[in-house]
Amino acid sequence: MTSNPIIIRGARPYAEGEPVDIAIAGGIITAIGPGLDLPEGATEIDGSGKILLPGLVDMHTHLREPGREDTETIDTGSAAAALGGYTAVFAMANTDPVADNVVITDHVWQRGQDAGIVDVHPVGAVTVGLKGKQLTEMAAMANGKGRVRMFSDDGVCVEDPLMMRRALEYARGLDVLIAQHAEEPRLTVGAVAHEGPTAARLGLAGWPRAAEEAIVARDALLARDAGYRVHICHASTAGTVELVKWAKAQGISLTAEVTPHHLLLDDSRLETYDAVNKVNPPLRERSDVEALRAALAAGIIDCVATDHAPHAAQEKCCGFAHARPGMLGLQTALSIIAEVMVKPGLLTWREVARVMSERPAEIVRLHDQGRPIEVGEPANLVLVDPEARWTVRSDEFASLSRNNPFEGMELAARVTMTMLRGRVTARDGEVIPR
Ligand code: DOR
Ligand code: ZN
Repeated sequence: MTSNPIIIRGARPYAEGEPVDIAIAGGIITAIGPGLDLPEGATEIDGSGKILLPGLVDMHTHLREPGREDTETIDTGSAAAALGGYTAVFAMANTDPVADNVVITDHVWQRGQDAGIVDVHPVGAVTVGLKGKQLTEMAAMANGKGRVRMFSDDGVCVEDPLMMRRALEYARGLDVLIAQHAEEPRLTVGAVAHEGPTAARLGLAGWPRAAEEAIVARDALLARDAGYRVHICHASTAGTVELVKWAKAQGISLTAEVTPHHLLLDDSRLETYDAVNKVNPPLRERSDVEALRAALAAGIIDCVATDHAPHAAQEKCCGFAHARPGMLGLQTALSIIAEVMVKPGLLTWREVARVMSERPAEIVRLHDQGRPIEVGEPANLVLVDPEARWTVRSDEFASLSRNNPFEGMELAARVTMTMLRGRVTARDGEVIPR
């Protein structure tokens, strides 16, 4: 993919130091400095007042293709990602059919490359059909065209401890990541909301914190014994934070992500019984939200992942108990992090680059993303207007679904341009197709 040379004028990398110009050609950063000359045929992009960050990396996205193209496709999900500042996303395996073989993972990869606006990395299932009974052929997926480097049964937990143990041993040989949806299913039968005073008052069946924490603790021990890494998807409780902290202190290779929604919303949202607020794991209590924010700031939780989970109207506009869990996330993630972490001084923009780009790329061993903004590095970049305030209107979003709990909210900071290997993929709210 070749594209014209570009100069971004007057942006501040990581919001540090004086504004500089950044020259990009052949997909890489070729010069950084004040007052760069405009090369022949180059396009100029005004970066004044803007922050330049490495392109964001989302370890946890649901794109619904194949099977539920009425709710999201690789095209529409890629567009949402580019508009949200992402240059790479990991598409979870709980599609229909499940991404549990190399034919599907290669297909997802190819579809992402054809769309060409974000690198769509397929996640392979850990067990066949997500059923927890038989390991998939991880090696075939890892060695396929899609180069699968993360495996997860997300949506459900790898419940059987022996299965999880075998999965880690197999993953270790391939140097691929196992990402766990931590939910002890025997503790969440019929559960639809966080188990606490709110759910009790509203008559909603509760999902106790222990269902998540029991699996986090178990998998930390399995990781210790296997001498191999485990990643915890969407950490949602203060207890999970304590367990991850403990595991790291023991030298166990346990990493964890948190979603923007678990950093912003709590279970008081359930009062309306609007199923837009139904998600797995559920929105917890304010004390959990505070603990998650502090843990992300302290580096106990490694990174932010969206768990972007589109659903059709008929799957959300029904009784709370019957609705599907999940919410949109790609186009609001950076602004929510700006709102809840940067504005209160919990993270600097430099650290936002760490938790939304560098660290996720490291955890999945993605070597061309989350790179420093330096000469010779791939030009995967995002420009952010830190002063912007905007109101979330999902009918203006690229996603095919509308299950957006942030609808109508006013948020801080906005992505104004996204660049993938030197090509502008989104600018001022518009996707730029190849
Ligand atoms: O809320 C959720 N939605 N949590 C999951 O683990 C799966 C996801 C989905 O696929 O809709
Ligand atoms: Zn999940």
